[in-house]
Amino acid sequence: MEKKKVLVTATNYSRLCAAGKKLLEEHGCEIIENPFGRPMTFSELQEFAPQADAVVAGVDDWNSSIFSLTPRLKAICRFGVGVDNINLEDASKANIKVTNAAGMNANAVAELTIGLLISAMRNIPQLYQTTQQGQWDRFVGDELINRKVGLLGFGNIARCVAKKLMGFDVDVSTYDKYPNLEAARALNVTICDKEEILRTSDVVILLLPSLKETYHFMNDDAFSMMKPGSYFINTARGALVDEAALYRALTSGRLSGAAIDVYEAEPTQKGNPLFTLDNVITTPHTAAETYKTYHDIGLLTAQAILDVFNGREPKNLLN
Ligand SMILES: NC(=O)c1ccc[n+]([C@@H]2O[C@H](COP(=O)([O-])OP(=O)(O)OC[C@H]3O[C@@H](n4cnc5c(N)ncnc54)[C@H](O)[C@@H]3O)[C@@H](O)[C@H]2O)c1
Repeated sequence: MEKKKVLVTATNYSRLCAAGKKLLEEHGCEIIENPFGRPMTFSELQEFAPQADAVVAGVDDWNSSIFSLTPRLKAICRFGVGVDNINLEDASKANIKVTNAAGMNANAVAELTIGLLISAMRNIPQLYQTTQQGQWDRFVGDELINRKVGLLGFGNIARCVAKKLMGFDVDVSTYDKYPNLEAARALNVTICDKEEILRTSDVVILLLPSLKETYHFMNDDAFSMMKPGSYFINTARGALVDEAALYRALTSGRLSGAAIDVYEAEPTQKGNPLFTLDNVITTPHTAAETYKTYHDIGLLTAQAILDVFNGREPKNLLN
């Protein structure tokens, strides 16, 4: 019998997802790995995708243009949470099941979010650089204690951030379209509207999904409502933020600092004006990348693919 072929466009699969890979191979699947170490372009997908029965997907674009070339494809299992790169309607029309790894990387993203927040308030990356260069450039930073932290979005990651912040003696509030009241009570988080979060928070952490309705959620209007001297963290998605507006908020003095893991255009290019500012900390969309998430999501996506191949409903089915 011909082996089922699983295309893995997510990166680092052999190196970090040995258990998931083994599970698929033990069930007779052949793995085709993304050789590029970055999201695959349309023309690369055109070459690789037509032979695939299932995909473990990174953040490359999946829509009807590619589905017209993939008659065998039965499942796309997103190696992450956001599915803004997969057109669910087009996938349903092509009879392709789509799953994600909701909640599986929440702790990793929450930990990096807290790390970025403290790095921004104490200027850690710049201090590292100047100390290494032989300078003794001490810096007077801000503390978190008794500050107001506003979470835009109260999903898996934001709730995990709220739980970790309990030890920091801060006052946490959140805005979410469908707020989880029980979790808010348990975590001592106040539910507010968007404007109140922006106007009153010393730190705003953006953790919404990227949707049509949340495109440029943070624009000039939103940044102008933020408290003078406040901090802004985005570990969610680049499309949620108008980067030119963020640049203006950082250069006008409205914001003391920002830390961002995600960008409007990824991978980033050298010329991004945000990279010229010394009050911005940047990481390359890496918040979810830990050995634990690779291992756990490797297994979850492998199991989801086997479920689809065997006519069972996979976990986290989205369409
Ligand atoms: N930086 C990274 O590497 C990384 C990794 C994982 C997830 N993410 C991103 O982080 C974000 C949050 O992920 P999550 O796992 O917490 O998601 P989640 O789905 O658990 O939570 C999203 C929350 O947003 C709320 N929401 C949905 N639409 C809304 C709207 N229009 N207005 C206000 N609230 C709305 C939902 O009610 C939900 O509570 C997503 O954008 C995800 O893609 C980034």
